[in-house]
Amino acid sequence: MKAIKKAVFPVAGMGTRFLPATKANPKEMLPVVDKPLIQYAAEEAVAAGIDTLIFVTGRNKRSIEDHFDTAYELERELEAKSKHKMLEVLRSILPKHVNCVFIRQSQALGLGHAVLCAKPVVNNEPFAVILADDLINSSGKSCLSQMVEHFNFQHCSILGTQKVPMEDVSSYGIVDGTEVKPDLMEVSGIVEKPPVDKAPSNVAVVGRYILTPRIFDLLEKTQKGAGNEIQLTDAISDLLKEQRVLSYNFEGNRFDCGSKMGYLKAQVEFALEHEEVGEEFREYLRALKDKDLEKVVKIAKSK
Ligand code: G1P
Repeated sequence: MKAIKKAVFPVAGMGTRFLPATKANPKEMLPVVDKPLIQYAAEEAVAAGIDTLIFVTGRNKRSIEDHFDTAYELERELEAKSKHKMLEVLRSILPKHVNCVFIRQSQALGLGHAVLCAKPVVNNEPFAVILADDLINSSGKSCLSQMVEHFNFQHCSILGTQKVPMEDVSSYGIVDGTEVKPDLMEVSGIVEKPPVDKAPSNVAVVGRYILTPRIFDLLEKTQKGAGNEIQLTDAISDLLKEQRVLSYNFEGNRFDCGSKMGYLKAQVEFALEHEEVGEEFREYLRALKDKDLEKVVKIAKSK
């Protein structure tokens, strides 16, 4: 089977949970410290050996294209002012060998439909799907790198999973299966956003997939499912009747940046690790911890 060289980023969603911030800006462009979410996702893909980034975009998503394009005027300005470090930051957003492709999803028909839109570019190869609002911080290899390693050995579709609290299962695609190795499970069933009493487990798919191209044929036939949308989960449920599908509990801290709480936690943890501001931020949090937080909130409210 071919190596994983292409990654699909479905980025057409409206981001209603972050309004008004996402009224005119895509949610994927929300920054965590100094980089937008979509850049973390792209970096994770590149670290896993991917050289073609396929963005499935929609209305109001132009800034994603601009972010991965050269900004001539800005570069000229930074050059003129001898701001070499900043120039380097801009130029290293993506390595030269990486190509970006943008496909428009003209109707918001769901994640499954978004992935299907990438078919003409992916063709007949296995590929990755990354949901940028699931931000994953791994101490060692990136989440997708870990999954690609398993793929190179197992040659089948692999879903990135984590255990979630039982009361949260109705927010995720939930898998059922049997363990083949520690952290690796052979999937026997998958269901999109089940109610707690119908969930086969608490093992949730969290925004990382490696899929064989057979998924496209199945997506073409997939009917609308949960939320009246064409669900990737439903096509995977059909795929595993024909092919082996594994789920992998990856190593890493995952932040649901589609939610305010998850996004705030990501800010704090990434800021603490940040080269430039990490130390000062640690000091700030320590000082804050010693203060009476209720008082701090009251002062802020009275302003
Ligand atoms: C999507 C998928 C779901 C998955 C989740 C991970 O749902 O449909 O199966 O568990 O991403 O974040 P969404 O969060 O877009 O509703």
